[in-house]
Amino acid sequence: MDNFVFQNTTKIVFGKNTEQEVGEYTSKYGKKVLLHYGGGSIKKYGTYDKVVNSLEKAGIEYVELGGVKSNPRVDLVREGIKLVEKENVDFILAVGGGSVIDSAKAIAVGRYYDGDVWDLYQGQLKIKQALPLGVVLTIPAAGSESSDASVITNMDGMYKRSIHSDKIRPKFAIMNPELTYTLPDYQTAAGAVDIMAHIMERYFTNTPDVDFTDRLCEGSLKAVISNVPKALKENDNYPARAEIMWASTIAHNGLLGTGREEDWASHQIEHELSGIYDVAHGAGLAVIFPAWMEYVYKHDVERFAQFAVRVWDVDPDFSDLNWTAKEGIRKTKEYFHSIGMPTTLNELDIPGDRLEEMAEKCTENGSVGSFLKLNKTDVLKIYRIAQE
Ligand code: NZQ
Ligand code: ZN
Repeated sequence: MDNFVFQNTTKIVFGKNTEQEVGEYTSKYGKKVLLHYGGGSIKKYGTYDKVVNSLEKAGIEYVELGGVKSNPRVDLVREGIKLVEKENVDFILAVGGGSVIDSAKAIAVGRYYDGDVWDLYQGQLKIKQALPLGVVLTIPAAGSESSDASVITNMDGMYKRSIHSDKIRPKFAIMNPELTYTLPDYQTAAGAVDIMAHIMERYFTNTPDVDFTDRLCEGSLKAVISNVPKALKENDNYPARAEIMWASTIAHNGLLGTGREEDWASHQIEHELSGIYDVAHGAGLAVIFPAWMEYVYKHDVERFAQFAVRVWDVDPDFSDLNWTAKEGIRKTKEYFHSIGMPTTLNELDIPGDRLEEMAEKCTENGSVGSFLKLNKTDVLKIYRIAQE
């Protein structure tokens, strides 16, 4: 196990009706709030009214900016920065999923950066200051509610890039699983794949002697795998929705990666897909992750065999670990299909004509991944495996 420092400061407020306490939590940090949200689901399903009532009850002034798109755009971020400056906003409240939260984080850092906010997403600039932010989560997926990351898309060049800083970890995340009953099945499933991917990016490691976190990862994966079909069958299955929602946070709050090298190649390879073709991040991962697995499993067949046996209950063939490892990959793919996710680029209607360009962009700052470092040729091969 490697040395590590672990601190996650986001306060989690979990359970039924908790969104109605948002005013109280917000009042600890700010007096004038930017209420940031997406394309309208929060208004359609009543969350907006509950949040606004709670803010008003707590005597908090607010201005609002809706319209965040999935794969959130830097243009709206720039608009948000102008608004928070003009209105003297001292706190941002993101009500929605990863896209809304990431857009809020971008506004938070852009508020104190003199140049164009996109500079921060392009380079290695240190983030010095950010407005504090809080979250009312409506979809379990990205884990942005307590992560240190924000992922933004720039349509100029179709780049999807991220920043990481403890300064953008939300102060609190309010998580009521009931708010997720209204999710379309596709979003529930895409979210589940993202959660699983966040665990697997940490699971496939070169660090030896990480039994404790291996077991945490395996148990977390098993809980997601068994609860997602229940939520898909019965939208308002509270226990299943609650398990998935809590798993989404734990999958990406840093805990499962403690003491181990993490990979993240599949995420970077996927970001090129959602950057150019605007696919749901989780659906892109359902295509890319199994292709990555097929490409790299020989690097550590034993780890892949362990994954197959402990996560997918594969009956191991001790004389043929390759078979055992491959069976785990097959089961992963089969599961993604069973919950309605695509597992090939063809199913996502992504043609093969820009694979080289995506591989080039993905590796423009050097190789990606740690489990196995991948150069442009490797990434291109993975896109090709993912084609059909
Ligand atoms: O925009 P609205 O109308 O709200 O609709 C959203 C959107 O269409 C809808 N939705 C959300 N909650 C709902 C609902 N519909 C009905 N009922 C509800 N309760 O769901 C759609 C997807 O929302 P989005 O926020 O885009 O999904 P997600 O949470 O999967 O976020 C995806 C983004 O997060 C980034 C991804 O790259 C992607 O851009 N990620 C962020 C990370 C981070 N900051 O740590 C890590 C992740 O790996 C990921 O990269
Ligand atoms: Zn992700």
